[in-house]
Order: sequence, then structure tokens, then C-alpha cells
Amino acid sequence: MADSRIVAGARAEDDVQYEAGLRPRLLDEYIGQDRIRENLQVSIAAAKQRSEPLDHVLLHGPPGLGKTTLAYAIGNEMGVQVRATSGPAIEKPGDLVGIITNLAAGDVLFIDEIHRMSPAVEEILYPALEDYEVDIVIGQGPGARTVKMRLEPFTLIGATTRTGLLTSPLRSRFGITHRLEFYTARDLEAIIGRSAGILGVPIEPAAAAEVARRARGTPRIVNRLLRRVRDYAQVRAGGTITVDVARAALALLEVDEHGFDETDRRLLRTIIEKFGGGPVGLGTIAAAISEEKDAIEDIYEPFLIQIGFLDRTPRGRVATPRAYGYFGLQAPGRDSRLW
Ligand code: ADE
Repeated sequence: MADSRIVAGARAEDDVQYEAGLRPRLLDEYIGQDRIRENLQVSIAAAKQRSEPLDHVLLHGPPGLGKTTLAYAIGNEMGVQVRATSGPAIEKPGDLVGIITNLAAGDVLFIDEIHRMSPAVEEILYPALEDYEVDIVIGQGPGARTVKMRLEPFTLIGATTRTGLLTSPLRSRFGITHRLEFYTARDLEAIIGRSAGILGVPIEPAAAAEVARRARGTPRIVNRLLRRVRDYAQVRAGGTITVDVARAALALLEVDEHGFDETDRRLLRTIIEKFGGGPVGLGTIAAAISEEKDAIEDIYEPFLIQIGFLDRTPRGRVATPRAYGYFGLQAPGRDSRLW
């Protein structure tokens, strides 16, 4: 029992290592998000010329699109250390004080899921971002006093799946804000080619295109699929990922031509079959398919909306005619919906 847990832990660790190994270290190696990359290259070059830290950066967009990768690439380009943490991991104001007082001049502080920081922790951050100062409270009760402490100038890089959840005082303290978009199939093909090269696995261009097409516009997914398809090629074929090998592996993984998994299909089918195609509220859908509201909103919906299978309306979520078509169903006409 104990042994199997150690093995499982090691596996998870391996996955993290793998992902880290596939991450581009510099902006020139980074594929896709061209506009963001170019803007960052300009901002970084300008900051370096002035010998200043880079302005604070907010990166937002669906998970798996490269927010963390970009944060590390920015740190590498600036030639500084990256100290990484996350909103939920910073439990008390003191935790954040400990982190920011240990930053060296110019360092990057990366806070993932920054929208999940508590208000008390956020309060500490404001003077730190604006004036590189932190207010430390010494003592308790009526005798308590605050002492200002100077910090080294640093760059905060915040990442969030939804800017809407950030408070406006926090949002306004970022000088550079970028929204990451889903990747084109062509960019994902280039990413898979690069990753296959690093992993040393032969892959036919047509097979790379096949995997890329089913990766929901997301590099993290394309790399995960590549590793699973590589397993299949190794065990069931001669090691090379041909189109046929890729198709067979993806079929076994139940990844369909849109890259949908079981949850995507359940979500769409539930809206269509249980709620007449919508509009239906997020909470109702979440309860019906036993998923977290946040997971639906952050992970599943953005891609379904992007490819036109789902609409978000003020009255709730609506399945589009395309979603009906996917299940071989005919979308009800507008008139019959009014009944
Ligand atoms: N691996 C994961 N994301 C990548 C990207 N955007 N460019 C290159 N390799 C990647």
C-alpha cells in the first residue's frame, strides 16, 4: 500500500518534470501568441535598457495556454530569479511578507490563480507594487504599531483564468495586461514537432496534424496527447507515430475529432436532453452533471464557446445548432422553442 503510493507520487512528479522539460525557456523558442510575444519583447528590451525592473504583468486566459511558461520565459529574458506561488497557497499576510521581503532587485514574483488571494493578503500587495514598501504590524491590540519596510524593486506576474474575478484596485496596478488566446492548429503542430524532437520520438507530419487538431487549441493538451500516443506507438507499433497509429491511440483514449472528452459530451448532451437546449443556468448544469461550477466555467466552456458549440446568454447557457449536429440531432426551430 505504502509502496504503491510512493510509485503514484513519483509518477505525478515525472509528469511535472516532463512538462517542465517541454517548456520553452525563452521567448524566441515560444510558439504562438505572436502579438503577446512581440509586445513583451519590446517591454523587456526597454526595461533592460533603462536598467529598471519590468512593469507588473497580468496574464489571463483559459488553463494550459502557457501563462506559467510565459512568466518563466520573462524571468529568463530579464536574467532574474522567478519566485513562484499561487493565490490559495498564500494563506496569511505574513506568508506574503516573507516572500516579498526575500526578493532580490529585479526578481519576478509569479502568483498563479491570483484571483484567489484573500483580501487581507491583497492589502499587503498594494504598497508593495506601487512603492516597493510593505507595512509590517508589530505587536497586538492598542499597543500595535506599523513599521514601513523598503523592498527591492520587483516585477509581479499575476496569472488568472478570469480577470472578472480580480478586484479593480488590483487589476489597475498591472502596467502590462495580456489575454492568451487558444492556439491555431498550425501552432500546435509546430509545438508537437518541437516536443517530439525533445522526447526523441519519430512522428509523421500528418500524425502531428491529427493530434494537433484534437488538442482543443491548448499546448498542455497537445503535449499530454503526444505522450499517450507515444506510449501506444511504443507498445503496439514500431515506435514511430504514423497517422494510423495516432488515430488508433486517440480512439483508444476516446478523444474524438473535436478533442472532446466525456465531460464535454455530458455537458452538451445534458443541456440538449434535460433542458431543451437551454437557456439554463450554470449552477443547474453543474448539479446535473456533478461538476464544479468553476471547472465548467474555466476549463470546459471557453473552448466550447470558441468553436461555436455553446452560447453564454444573460438567461443562461444555450446549445447551438452545431452542438445538436454533433449528436446527429436537429436543433429545434425558434418557433418550437417558444412553446
Ligand atoms: N510547449 C508548451 N507550450 C509551448 C509553446 N507555446 N511553444 C513552444 N513549446 C511549447
